Amino acid sequence: MAMRAVVYDKPFTVTIREVEKPKILHPDDIIVKTIDMYSDLHMYEGRTAAQQGIVFGHENLGIVDEVGPGVTVLTKGDRVVMPFNVACGRCTNCEEGRSAFCTQVNPGFAGGNISEFHLPISTPLNFRLAEHEADFAMLADIFPTGWHGVQISGFKPGESIAVFGAGPVGLMAAYSALLRGASEVYVVDRVPERLAKAKEIGAVPIDFSKGDAVQQILDIRGGKEVDRGVDAVGYQATSGDGKTEQPNAVLEALIRVVKPTGGLGIPGLYVPSDPGAPDSAAAKGYISFPFGKLFEKGLTIGTGQCNVKSYNRYLRDLIISGKAKPSFVVSHNLPLDQAAEAYDKFDRRVDGFTKVLLHP
Ligand SMILES: NC(=O)c1ccc[n+]([C@@H]2O[C@H](COP(=O)([O-])OP(=O)(O)OC[C@H]3O[C@@H](n4cnc5c(N)ncnc54)[C@H](O)[C@@H]3O)[C@@H](O)[C@H]2O)c1
Ligand SMILES: [Zn+2]
Repeated sequence: MAMRAVVYDKPFTVTIREVEKPKILHPDDIIVKTIDMYSDLHMYEGRTAAQQGIVFGHENLGIVDEVGPGVTVLTKGDRVVMPFNVACGRCTNCEEGRSAFCTQVNPGFAGGNISEFHLPISTPLNFRLAEHEADFAMLADIFPTGWHGVQISGFKPGESIAVFGAGPVGLMAAYSALLRGASEVYVVDRVPERLAKAKEIGAVPIDFSKGDAVQQILDIRGGKEVDRGVDAVGYQATSGDGKTEQPNAVLEALIRVVKPTGGLGIPGLYVPSDPGAPDSAAAKGYISFPFGKLFEKGLTIGTGQCNVKSYNRYLRDLIISGKAKPSFVVSHNLPLDQAAEAYDKFDRRVDGFTKVLLHP
């Protein structure tokens, strides 16, 4: 049996191909018919170890089509959204809610493309799927990841926060901080449509193509630093013109803009091996930043992939109760056939491509 999939051919090229349908291999497996899916871009750009032929789409929402003999909590027809982390659910880290650091599936780190780990949107709520479909799709990755970025910065209600990056993750971090009672939220980027979305939700947009972002924030605040900072950019950060990659740009800025004893949350990705790095140190994941200043200011740092499972149910309930509507970030809903064009435009951050949902 075959199905259509978005297949990675080479950097900057994906193709829709017929691939073999998955099979139940483990008693706990389920097979889901996908309704919405997407992925981020590091693999697309050839900036990870992803091999040719890999099927893209690590953010998935769909309908259970088949269940393995060990599955008792789901049945065919249930609506599910799947956290992007691949995790066993049984090891020490999984049991303690750190599903991004499963010791069984990916010893030493987390990540991957298919999830064995499922979050039911739950059967009694199935009737709500149409109403909230795009919001629920954000639960696979970016809403929990933005929330996580705020969480690991040590944020408390009433504090001020600067979020670097107004991509899907940065916008979700800003939105989460606002939901959690931030007094002020600054969002730094250079893409006009993304800054406009930040403004729309009540954050203060800062355009770093117009000058040093830290100075702009300090000027607005009469020289006062912010309490917390979030790096929602990662190792592919650029200089103000957007042309030169500068992997340490955001770390350096955060250390400057956050107050002494404040905290940095770093959900933005840094990798131990980068085939396309701008220099030989960065190729091994060595990034230089002012650790002396960080120490002097007594800053704390939280990093790593998001433990999606530990937030997902609560964020789902915020959606159902009408308190959160993360789908404001979705700029395009497209058929799967347009995946190649969608990845290209999303990658170049043109034509307002902020977040895409592909519908097979
Ligand atoms: N920790 C996790 O579990 C997790 C999960 C999902 C995504 N991520 C990572 O989070 C990061 C953001 O994801 P995304 O999908 O929003 O990416 P994105 O590439 O769409 O957005 C990044 C934004 O950063 C902006 N930017 C670049 N350099 C900048 C700088 N110096 N200052 C301010 N802004 C700058 C870009 O213009 C872009 O809009 C990526 O590194 C992604 O891999 C991490
Ligand atoms: Zn595990």
